[in-house]
This record gives sequence, structure tokens and C-alpha cells, in this order.
Amino acid sequence: MKIGVIMGGISSEREVSLNTGREIANNLDKNKYEVVPIIIDKKEDIIEKTRDIDFAFIALHGKFGEDGIAQAVLETLDIPYSGCSPLASGICMDKSITKSILKTVGVNTADWFTLNSADKLDLARVDAIGYPVVVKPNSGGSSVATAIVNGEKDIEEAVAEALKFDSEVMIEKYIKGEEITCCMMDGILLPVIAIKPKSHFFDYSSKYLDGGADEVIIELESPIREKVEEAARKCWKHLKCSVYARVDIIIGEDDIYVLEINTLPGLTKNSLFPKSAKAYGLDFLEFLDRIVQLSLKSRN
Ligand SMILES: Nc1ncnc2c1ncn2[C@@H]1O[C@H](COP(=O)(O)OP(=O)(O)O)[C@@H](O)[C@H]1O
Ligand SMILES: [Mg+2]
Repeated sequence: MKIGVIMGGISSEREVSLNTGREIANNLDKNKYEVVPIIIDKKEDIIEKTRDIDFAFIALHGKFGEDGIAQAVLETLDIPYSGCSPLASGICMDKSITKSILKTVGVNTADWFTLNSADKLDLARVDAIGYPVVVKPNSGGSSVATAIVNGEKDIEEAVAEALKFDSEVMIEKYIKGEEITCCMMDGILLPVIAIKPKSHFFDYSSKYLDGGADEVIIELESPIREKVEEAARKCWKHLKCSVYARVDIIIGEDDIYVLEINTLPGLTKNSLFPKSAKAYGLDFLEFLDRIVQLSLKSRN
């Protein structure tokens, strides 16, 4: 079987994607698969460069990769691919739509609203949420253009910065607490990882610099454990995830809050998912193999 590892792309997360892609290409089982790296520099490459592959291992992040569009092209070309469907990918790429669905199924998420470049920022709405708030691109990733804003004087600038990366910006209540991530594979929750960034929050550099954050496998205690398990399971089910996805959660003082679901979580050397899979008992090669097998099963 010839596997094309699809990486690069046209989003602000291109560099991260190239790292994820190289890591996947290096670690896929060469005794089982012929592996070819495929670098996407423009959208048409997903058609032009995938002609003779049997399976696409998608290592793209952000727009045209994580949002379901590349997946839909591969569906059209009849090439099986890794991970979530176009529908789940599209929903989860939009943080606000995701949160709306979560609310309707009883999964707790922080108060928020969104605005686009044509809207005037309504400061009264921010006051109603209460500072500090987090400002982020609604369809962003890797914490790009994400800021914690403590008061009115900094909010306009944070919104303008986020608008450079997306036409829609989210303003969300800042939740103080312990950040965790839940790696889900085939609907099963793998060991939970606690994230302790060295900076104020899990920003770009704490995500990708060596030693930028402490990330440790933890055993949650009852009743938080059951709450987290239920929330992660509901996210998986109601956002229609398949194969693998990662749910970001903050354990606040009063409740747990789901931040977002990542349908193409990073798989670089320092990434969270391989760490969790390892604690579950799968080394990176075995984990990648499992992803290929689960994907083939779910595409049939
Ligand atoms: N409402 C919030 N309260 C506290 N921290 C937040 C909040 N929203 C985001 N963060 C911090 O910013 C990081 C990135 O936000 P997230 O919503 O996961 O977007 P992405 O990872 O797609 O960039 C989180 O991992 C967390 O550290
Ligand atoms: Mg996140």
C-alpha cells in the first residue's frame, strides 16, 4: 500500500504541519507501507500530487486541511484518508458552532460571542461576560493571534490582531484552572494529559518550543474523572468524530469547560497525542498503524 503523507498547506500552521508530516513519514512502518511525503503548496496539489497513492495520511493543520475541505476532495477522488470526516472536521474547525452544539447536549463551555470585521465591538457584551476574556480567531489553531485581555484598553487591539487571521473573532470568558487534553481514539479516551505552560497560557511558543510546557499523564480523581470522561465522549459522539481527535478542556474552580476539539491534532515529536498513546501502550509506529487501520475501516 502506498501512503502519501499530506503536509504543508496554506494556513498559518504550515510549519507545524511540515513537522507533523515529517514525523509521520519517518515513523510509518516501512515493512508494511511505501511512504511518500506530499507537500501541498497550493490547493490543486491535493489533486495533482495524490494521483497514484492508495491512502492519504493527512498531516495538514488549519484551513484547507483541518476544516474538511481537503478531506472532501479526497472523498471525491475516492482516496481513503486518515481521521475525521469532512463534516466533523468542518464543524470542529469553527469553535463557535462547536460550542453551540456542546451547549445543546449539556457539555459545559465558557460564555462567548463572536464578531466579524464588519461588526462594531460591543463593549457592553464584553462587560457582561466579565474580564479577563480570551480573544482568538474563531477558526484558528496553535494559539495564533490568541490573547488574554484583562481590561477594556487592550481589547480593540486584540480583536484587530485576531481579525488578521480570520474573518470571525471569538471573545470568550477566561477560565482559571488546570488545563488538560483528552486524546480520543475510536471513541476511547486515552490517558489524560495535564498541561502546565511556562507562560501565562498554552501559547504558540509553549506548544512548540522544547520545554515550553510540562505535559504529564495524570489520573484524575472522582468526580472530575467521570465528568471529563462524559464530556470527552459526548464531544466525540455529537461532533461526529471518527478515528482520532483531541478534546481541550479546562478544569475550572466550579466545573469543567471544553475549549475546542482538534480533528487533526499535531503529531510532532513533542505533541500531546503520541505521548498519550504511548501511555496507553502504543509506540509511535503502532499508533500510526492503528490510525491507518481505523481510517480504512471507517471509510468503507
Ligand atoms: N477561555 C479560556 N480560558 C482560559 N484559557 C484559554 C481559554 N481559551 C483559550 N485558552 C488558552 O489558549 C490556548 C489555545 O486556545 P484554543 O481555544 O485551544 O485554540 P487553539 O488551540 O485552536 O489555538 C488554550 O490551550 C488555553 O491555554
Ligand atoms: Mg487548542
